[in-house]
Amino acid sequence: MSKEKLIIFDTTLRDGEQSPGAAMTAEEKLRIAKALEKMKVDIIEAGFPISSEGDFAAVQGIARTVKDSVVCGLARANKADIERAGEALKDANASRIHTFIATSPLHMREKLLLTPDQVFEQAVDAVKLARNFTDNVEFSPEDAGRSDLDFLCRIIEAVIDAGATTINIPDTVGYNLPDQYGNTIRQLIENVPNSDKAIFSTHCHNDLGLAVANSLAGVMNGARQVECSINGLGERAGNAALEEVVMAVRTRQDLFPCDVGLDTTQIMTCSRLVSGITGFPVQPNKAIVGANAFAHESGIHQDGVLKSRETYEIMLAEDVGLNSNKLVLGKLSGRSAFKDRLEKLNIMVDSQEELNNAFRRFKDLADKKSEIFDEDIQALVSDFKMEE
Ligand code: KIV
Ligand code: ZN
Repeated sequence: MSKEKLIIFDTTLRDGEQSPGAAMTAEEKLRIAKALEKMKVDIIEAGFPISSEGDFAAVQGIARTVKDSVVCGLARANKADIERAGEALKDANASRIHTFIATSPLHMREKLLLTPDQVFEQAVDAVKLARNFTDNVEFSPEDAGRSDLDFLCRIIEAVIDAGATTINIPDTVGYNLPDQYGNTIRQLIENVPNSDKAIFSTHCHNDLGLAVANSLAGVMNGARQVECSINGLGERAGNAALEEVVMAVRTRQDLFPCDVGLDTTQIMTCSRLVSGITGFPVQPNKAIVGANAFAHESGIHQDGVLKSRETYEIMLAEDVGLNSNKLVLGKLSGRSAFKDRLEKLNIMVDSQEELNNAFRRFKDLADKKSEIFDEDIQALVSDFKMEE
């Protein structure tokens, strides 16, 4: 039986761009959008058209170019924002308007200066207006992670009746824990009478380092869209990292009731593109896309991987677009990785004794140098052969 689809909604170009210092030009955003389209991302949130002329042009350019992904624009729940988003998206092959308003008591009272009833009315009006531009409308109750569940149920029921087809549940400040966030998704789906008329979506921020865990808990509890970004880029500590969500779902298909339709071999290209454009480096030990994510250094691990990759690899480097895994030669490496590297470099050793000598020299060098490169090995063996 084929599984349900998990929709991947990428917000690198919108929430990702809200990372301080990550502003992108329209041309840079278009390059990233094309890479996301090639990776078969379902929905690309291209920007916030009313925020600036430049962002309007960026969203419009992406809407005119991208054909295989739905192009989405963000709008607050008001007429000007929604009309501007509608205008930016009008030439898209497939478009979505994503409209939002805060629903937590704190945000309504301190930021919006609106009563819950006023927020309710504004949300419904916004969704109705957005439906004049596209039949694909997403509604987000901002700060849902700190909102009252009964109020969320009430507003969500009404916006679905007004025409929202996706209900996104933002943990805007990354406050929730996985069980709590998963429960919220489940209770909303169970208690909103018309919940079957919409797809429920996760949008988790990483303030406590839980964005991916919370998103996956949401999926386990019925969400069928995840909002995420390349390298986890996003406001403050960022959003759920797309590559981590996607590879978790792929790698643990034994647990997930749904699957993603992405071409995961494009992950590394997208990660490097976004890092290069924004100037935000990827930490070496970052899951999936860090330089060390598929590298083995200790002798015990290298020996295991050479015998069977599954001993220390739960997914293949090739699946995320790398040519292969990496056995890094250093002071912790063992004889089997060293011998393997000699073979790959076509270096012949004539006897066990010669191998032992070469290995001893390699270990001496590794004590002085943190990583041993192929050139080091070539030099080390040729010196040794000359001395013979
Ligand atoms: O984090 C958030 O609440 C948002 C909304 C605009 C969806 O980014
Ligand atoms: Zn956000």
